[in-house]
Amino acid sequence: MSGADSLFRRCVRYYNTMWPDNARPDNGRPGDGARTRGGQEAKRVGMEKIKHDEFIRLVNYMREQYGINLEQKLALVEGRLWNVINHKGFSSLNEYIECVVSDGTGEEAKMLVTRLTTNYTYFMREEQHYNFLREVILPQLEKSLPDRDVRIWSAGCSSGEEPYTTAMVIDEYFGLGKAGWDTKILATDISPVVLAQAREGVYGEERLDNVSPAWKTKYFRKVGPGRYKVSEAIQNEVIFRSFNLMETRLPFRRKFHVIFCRNVMIYFNQPTRDALLQRFYQALEPGGHLFIGLSETISKGETLFDFVQPSIYAKPKQK
Ligand SMILES: C[S@@+](CC[C@H](N)C(=O)[O-])C[C@H]1O[C@@H](n2cnc3c(N)ncnc32)[C@H](O)[C@@H]1O
Repeated sequence: MSGADSLFRRCVRYYNTMWPDNARPDNGRPGDGARTRGGQEAKRVGMEKIKHDEFIRLVNYMREQYGINLEQKLALVEGRLWNVINHKGFSSLNEYIECVVSDGTGEEAKMLVTRLTTNYTYFMREEQHYNFLREVILPQLEKSLPDRDVRIWSAGCSSGEEPYTTAMVIDEYFGLGKAGWDTKILATDISPVVLAQAREGVYGEERLDNVSPAWKTKYFRKVGPGRYKVSEAIQNEVIFRSFNLMETRLPFRRKFHVIFCRNVMIYFNQPTRDALLQRFYQALEPGGHLFIGLSETISKGETLFDFVQPSIYAKPKQK
């Protein structure tokens, strides 16, 4: 078998098993026989360690394509890719990268990003942002938008808890008057795995720890032991799309009043963050707000945004 042939076979075998370990139907664990979904026995390769030049290739690829900085993350890369490489029968990280870059659909690359980033999130995370939305932003918009069209973007929405929480805050704020308003939220992420979870809208109860009993009753339906589904009315308020924040052009026709990009830029290096902040600035209406994660900051020299309070920024009304 030629080298190209064998890589092709491994790629095909791998595409048949394209699930992150924690989302695979068989929930395959290291050492469980590495049986693939197609029933084939994946070849175990006795690889000791990821080679330095291959690691650097991955670092460069992830920085150029996704802005993600893995320079100091050798242990994370080994921890998260080791099983994939071994279980799927690749003989090296390089071979796996070849498989990723030769996949014309781009799906394989998105799976790689899923493996190398953290999708951790929950309802009502960083609650002060939702309080600010309810107490400051929504009253302003209610007074100033004659067309009653509120545009919000949750960028890096993970499995959907952030945009769904936002939709609940908006629903509660407008109450019965909500029918007269268009408040649909755009929610984007690069990972097809989390987007599928987000669209399904079903969550374990640990994700709802910060949700009040009243909200649990109003906005969720119990669908099994410890499992809750977001109400249809709230699901209809959120539009999920796949989008890579590294895209240099934002494909949105109209500007947003609010952008959430929380706990996403932590993965990016400084030039990537600066360029993204510039694009967010362009994508916001004058007076619009940007929320970043509570542990993140934007230093004054880095941005045209006005500082409002820690992790909340505004585009000046006139500039
Ligand atoms: C930790 S989660 C943050 C979820 C939510 N914003 C929150 O604060 O709870 C980070 C998300 O950023 C996404 N992400 C990372 N790099 C991305 C990129 N280049 N484009 C789009 N999304 C990306 C990941 O897939 C992940 O779902």
